[in-house]
Formats: sequence, C-alpha cells, structure tokens
Amino acid sequence: VKSDALVFYGATGDLAYKKIFPALHMMVKRGNLNSPIIGVARGDYDLDKLRARAKESIQKHGNYEEESYKKFCSFLAFVGGDYTDQETFRRIREALGEAKNPTHYLAIPPVLFPTIIAQLDQSGCAKGARIIVEKPFGTDFESARALNKVLLAKFSESAIYRIDHYLGKRPVNNIVFFRFVNSLLEPVWNKDHIESMQITMAEDFGIQSRGAFYDVTGAIRDVIQNHLFQILCNLTMEPPKALDSESIRDEKVKVLKAISPLRAQDVICGQYQGYLSEKAVKEGSKTETFAAIRLHIDSPRWDGVPFYIRAGKNLPVTSTEILIRFKHLPSAYSSIATQPNHIRFRISPDVKVAFGMLIMAPGEDMSSVLSEVQGNPTPFPNEKDAYERVLTDAMAGDPTHFARQDYVEEAWKIVDDYLSSDHPVYSYEPGTWGPENVDEQILPPGGWNNPIVTKR
Ligand code: BG6
Repeated sequence: VKSDALVFYGATGDLAYKKIFPALHMMVKRGNLNSPIIGVARGDYDLDKLRARAKESIQKHGNYEEESYKKFCSFLAFVGGDYTDQETFRRIREALGEAKNPTHYLAIPPVLFPTIIAQLDQSGCAKGARIIVEKPFGTDFESARALNKVLLAKFSESAIYRIDHYLGKRPVNNIVFFRFVNSLLEPVWNKDHIESMQITMAEDFGIQSRGAFYDVTGAIRDVIQNHLFQILCNLTMEPPKALDSESIRDEKVKVLKAISPLRAQDVICGQYQGYLSEKAVKEGSKTETFAAIRLHIDSPRWDGVPFYIRAGKNLPVTSTEILIRFKHLPSAYSSIATQPNHIRFRISPDVKVAFGMLIMAPGEDMSSVLSEVQGNPTPFPNEKDAYERVLTDAMAGDPTHFARQDYVEEAWKIVDDYLSSDHPVYSYEPGTWGPENVDEQILPPGGWNNPIVTKR
C-alpha cells in the first residue's frame, strides 16, 4: 500500500539538510508526494524556521522551484519536543490526522531507536505504519541483531526499510539489468571466463566535519560492508527466479553466505596523513580511512575467482568504477593478444559501460591494440537522485532496493572478525592511491584500475 503521511525525525540535522529536503521537494514537484510531511526535532525550533531551512537546503543541494517549494510547505508541519516525552508523540499522532499508513523515517542516531519505537507503539503512531532507518545498521553482527530485534518487536520485516542509498543509484541497479538482459553475457559470466573483478570507490576529500561519526566507523563499516557489498552482489548473484523484491534479495543473501570472513592477509588498511588532527578524532586513533580487500565467493560459478574491493578518502579523484577482467585463453593468436578483454562499469561521476577489446593495430604488423567500445546512456533530464528514488520506493511500498535483515547480518559476519582484531593501519599521503604497500599484498592481476576523471 501507498503510505499516506511521512514523519521524519532529525528534521534539523545534517542528513535532512543535505539529502532529505531536496528529495522531498522533488517528490512533491513530480506529484509523487501529496500527503502530510511532519518534521520532528528536539530543541528550540518552529515551522517557520523549518521552512526557511528547507528552502536554503533545496537551493543549495536541490533543484529549487518556487511553486513546488510552496506546495511542499503546504504539506509541511513541525513537531518539536523530546523523544522521551509522551507529549511529543501525542502531538505527532494529532498531526497525522486521518493518515492510516504513515511512514516514520528515523534520520537520527540509532541509540535513539529503542526510545522512539516504544513511544510510537504506545502513542498509536505505529499502527499500520512502516519505518525507514539509515545505515549503518549496527556496528557489528551483535549490534545489528540487537537493532533488528528492537525494530521487529513492533514492526514486521515487510514494514522495515533499511536505506542503503547506493541501491537508489540507477547505474548500480543497471549492473543486474545489464547482466541478465544481454544474453551474450551469461555464458561467460563465470570462473571459466572471468579472471577477476575489482571495485574502487575513491573520494578526493577527507572526512569533512563528520569526525565524531567517522572515527568510530571507518571505511569498511562506512562504505564497504554496505554500498560496495551491494555492488558485489549485483555483479555476482545468480539470476533471480522472478523480479519481485524477495526473489532478488534472496539471491543477494546467498552471495554473502558464500563468502568467508576476511583474513588478515586479505586486507590492507590505511589512514591519511593529517587525519589525527581532524575535529572530533580521538588521539592516536587507528580508524581506517582507506581499505583494500580481497575475497572469494565459494560457489560453483565463482570458485577460485578473486574479487578486490578498495575504498578511501583523500584519494586522487572522486569516482566509483568496476573492472571485470576476462581470462586470456590460449589460441593461435595468444601471443598477439597482449591484454585480456574487460568490461568497465563506471558508476560515478558519469555513467558508462565499456567493453575492452582487441583490434588489429594500424600498420602492416600483426599486432593488437586495446580499444574500448563504450555505451553511455543518454543523460535523462531531471533524473532522480538516489535519495529521491529510495524515499519514493519506501512511500510506495516497494522494498526491492533496501537491505533485508538477513542481508545485513550476513554482511557483518564477513568483516566482524577482522574489525575486532588488532591489525596494522598504514599511513598514506593525501592525494595518493593509499598506502604504498597495498600493491605488495593486495594486487589484482593487471594492477588496480585507477578511475580517470577529467576535471572541468
Ligand atoms: C555515505 C558515506 O554513505 O556515502 C560517506 O557515509 C560517503 O562517507 C558517501 O562519502 C558517498 O555517497 P555518494 O552517493 O556521494 O557516492
């Protein structure tokens, strides 16, 4: 069912400012949101201030338009108050009016979840409702399990939407589409033909003002365990039996179950120089701002194929790319084929799917050059951004592009042992591709694919 009201907690916070207001504004603009929007926050605030903040946020981070902003404001209400106070939730209930299927979006730190969920239940706000929570879902298997228990005590799994905004990115979902819609790929999408795959998520900026969050999180928990594992599942899952949400999510969980916990020799962590003087970072912190890992998927399709994942802050560029290298199979032409074929998916900053193929080099010699045949989707005007997409799906009641409980728990099982072990964190210079020893320990065949971004 379609939800008929949205209550979002943390209305004065950072996420609301950067992502939620611009997304809601676009949803209103497109006619996808025509119901009460109730912002909730603690402290001294009121509706006028919230409208002004929304305006500023949409102007800065969205596609501001006077008319749709006004329409958005006509839906917007504000409830201020403490989350421990029953009165706050009585007023939310009142603001919900006739709504029968409200959505409660917890854009706040998870420590507050138990309190809010108990209050939603007691005040009647949880009736017929669904709930949206933000990653990270816990900090390890145990805490994720505890968090899920809190949620599942009052909401059914089908009413819980765990946001991983990478699943709101069309190029990320295109990976699955591309694999199964192009019939030439499936016969070669396996250990017999693919030598390795690698995923790089590079960012050319540091932790900005998020020290308090980042220092207890690190690169593996922040983006690898969630965003990049989702990409890995899209690249490697078996074809789903049908296109419904559960068939797809079932296949992803199977991939994670077939991955063994990371071993120390399969990980290199790094920290950029200068991290320790960032605001809110603990003295002597060993939090990783870079990690490179290698893993295997223990399945008939992927037996023996290495997968490499690398993510980091303060690297040379901001880009996410995937490189799939095919095997170099023997033939009469083997000695002329100097490089293997590849497929390169570029997820950001622009979108691309490129096939690397060998053609006869110009001249009279029998030699080859590697040439990329590229498919660049035509930019779609007013394309939805990831947050708009996931929030639209959640309000419409489509859970396909959200993390399911079992998925989250399986993902933690892979990284938990490593994260809780004592491991080295090597320093690297900002603007480089991480610690120098990465290549000695975690080197994909043919080397790391460093995305190239031409600065405009
Ligand atoms: C967030 C992480 O989930 O994703 C950030 O917490 C990261 O550290 C961000 O910068 C990247 O998202 P995007 O959509 O800009 O690639």
